[in-house]
Amino acid sequence: MARPYVILNAAMTLDGKIATVAGDSRISCEEDLDRIHELRASVDAVMVGVGTVLADDPSLTVRRVCGKNPIRVVVDSLAKTPSDAKVLDSSARTIVAVSKRAAEEDIERLRRKGALVMIGGEEEVNLPKLLEELHAMGVRKLLLEGGSTLNWSMLREGLVDEVRVAIAPRIVGGEAARTLVGGAGFRSVSEGIELELVSVDRVGTDLLLTYRVKGCGDA
Ligand SMILES: NC(=O)c1ccc[n+]([C@@H]2O[C@H](COP(=O)([O-])OP(=O)(O)OC[C@H]3O[C@@H](n4cnc5c(N)ncnc54)[C@H](OP(=O)(O)O)[C@@H]3O)[C@@H](O)[C@H]2O)c1
Repeated sequence: MARPYVILNAAMTLDGKIATVAGDSRISCEEDLDRIHELRASVDAVMVGVGTVLADDPSLTVRRVCGKNPIRVVVDSLAKTPSDAKVLDSSARTIVAVSKRAAEEDIERLRRKGALVMIGGEEEVNLPKLLEELHAMGVRKLLLEGGSTLNWSMLREGLVDEVRVAIAPRIVGGEAARTLVGGAGFRSVSEGIELELVSVDRVGTDLLLTYRVKGCGDA
């Protein structure tokens, strides 16, 4: 199956949280925000789960550096992306990937907002099929920007090639606070996704770790 090369990027606290218990996810330092915008400008598409759209209302555009906006992709089984969400504004193309459970009226609402709605999967969005379709549309490099639940599904399905994590010098605690990867989790460490450390860099006050996902076939 041909699919885009996928980079998972996230900012987390030293204790592995990507948002606080109250949903505050402003973890990156200024220099790391610049890096994220540069990264966005270097990919064909950026993808998030609907949980991130509802929590953060990100615009997912390139603003802090010069560069083109990538296609925005929202993974949203039930087509619940709000009509006034920033990802639906006119600054870039937007794809909302829904499953067969999405109501026709919600699909139509998103289409009226200018989004391309792609339908695939019975319950949840079928991620391998979505990536295959994005590749067929010309998407060769995709930036996965979370959240926790979508990160899990993408990693579990073997759809991530690279992981870049900026660790901020903060500890926020909270059992309910979202971590880098959520989902059902593996029962044993040996089942876990194996990574190879590629580089360690300092970005402003943050520590940037870059990993290659082992065993992930060339995209
Ligand atoms: N610090 C960072 O770098 C960073 C980055 C991004 C997000 N965040 C934080 O992460 C949190 C959001 O994470 P989240 O886990 O709640 O939501 P999420 O991962 O953004 O979205 C998950 C949702 O996507 C939908 N979905 C559809 N098909 C799916 C599939 N095959 N696999 C997985 N999900 C699928 C599901 O909702 P439906 O079934 O309704 O479609 C699912 O609940 C927020 O607090 C946000 O601030 C932090």
